[in-house]
Amino acid sequence: MSDTVLITGGAGFIGRYVAGALLKRGHRVRVLDSLIEQVHGERTTPDALDPAVDFVPGDIRDEAALKRALSGVDKVVHLAAEVGVGQSMYAVDRYVSVNDYGTAMLFQQLIDRPVKRVVVASSMSIYGEGLYRTVDGDLIQDAVRTPRPSAPWDPLDAQGRPLIPVPTPEWKQPALASVYAITKYVQERLTLTLAPTYGMEGVALRLWNVYGPGQALSNPYTGVLAIFAARLLNGNAPVIFEDGEQRRDFVHVEDIAQAFVLALEHPKAPGEVFNIASGADRTVSQVAELLAAAMGRPDIRPEIAGKVRIGDVRHNIPDITKAREVLGFAPKMDFSQGLAELAEWVAQQQAVDRVAQARSELEMRGLVA
Ligand code: UD1
Repeated sequence: MSDTVLITGGAGFIGRYVAGALLKRGHRVRVLDSLIEQVHGERTTPDALDPAVDFVPGDIRDEAALKRALSGVDKVVHLAAEVGVGQSMYAVDRYVSVNDYGTAMLFQQLIDRPVKRVVVASSMSIYGEGLYRTVDGDLIQDAVRTPRPSAPWDPLDAQGRPLIPVPTPEWKQPALASVYAITKYVQERLTLTLAPTYGMEGVALRLWNVYGPGQALSNPYTGVLAIFAARLLNGNAPVIFEDGEQRRDFVHVEDIAQAFVLALEHPKAPGEVFNIASGADRTVSQVAELLAAAMGRPDIRPEIAGKVRIGDVRHNIPDITKAREVLGFAPKMDFSQGLAELAEWVAQQQAVDRVAQARSELEMRGLVA
């Protein structure tokens, strides 16, 4: 059955792909987006948004814009959010306001005018450190680390031995290590608490590190692959925090779009949280090297900063069994093909490299240590 779907923040990187996928499925799509300058530059109209999308300019916290955007809508995908972990540690008011007050505003409207389903973009960052095991095989849910250049970067067990990262399932308890993570957890809980209270279905997708063509290259607080791509495009070395051995899962934005379609349509999705990732984890150093090769710049060696960005977790790798089994989620993009496509797109772009400026902003505040 076709629905009218509102995507908040839908002019952004992920939203544009979700919009495209929903249109292909025969849904009608409306987007509410304030086109913030850090992501969209000076543009006053969205770039690369499918022309079939009904675009409503406006901030999620603006009641009049929100009312306009929600009129006649059957389902909502809630993506409007500030997304930088590092930046969230100093732009606290902005992150809490956009992410949490924004979600509160959305639900305040939905109480009076419920929709069928709300799917919210949560984040793997709500887990903090992922699940670990000790060398003896005991599972550790509450790993913490006190990262300093003179000590091992990995979390340690009681005997001082590094813990070994294992795939993190949805049942791992949250450990909120950054303002960003706190706000994402609040978004997720507001959705899963309020939706059923008012006769709606709520779903939360906990996304890992999303990459692909269209990411905001000139935003120094965007994801690591886009940051590295912008550096390489300008002939500069990517700067790797810690020692580069931290592990993440990089998932292609088209696979993310597939996950949102499933979360919006699948009868078994309501009330659930799902990890969404590619299922293959890598270190930050590995991706820096592979991207440099894909962009034809293997000569540019990354700089290892040997410092940590405060708020970062060491390892977080996903267990996506639940999304596979319940939703039938099947990530398709092979990482080397995804990088090749990213490199091809990046080569046609211009990127203002603001990474050094962003790093000194964090350093000035003691947020890189
Ligand atoms: C990212 C997303 C977040 C999402 C989360 C889900 C962005 C801005 N953040 O956070 O919205 O919820 O994934 O997994 O897209 N790093 C470097 N050098 C850099 C930048 C980063 O070494 O110049 C390292 C970081 O220290 C970290 C890793 O790369 O260890 C990933 O960083 P980043 O891309 O910012 O992602 P997350 O913090 O995981």
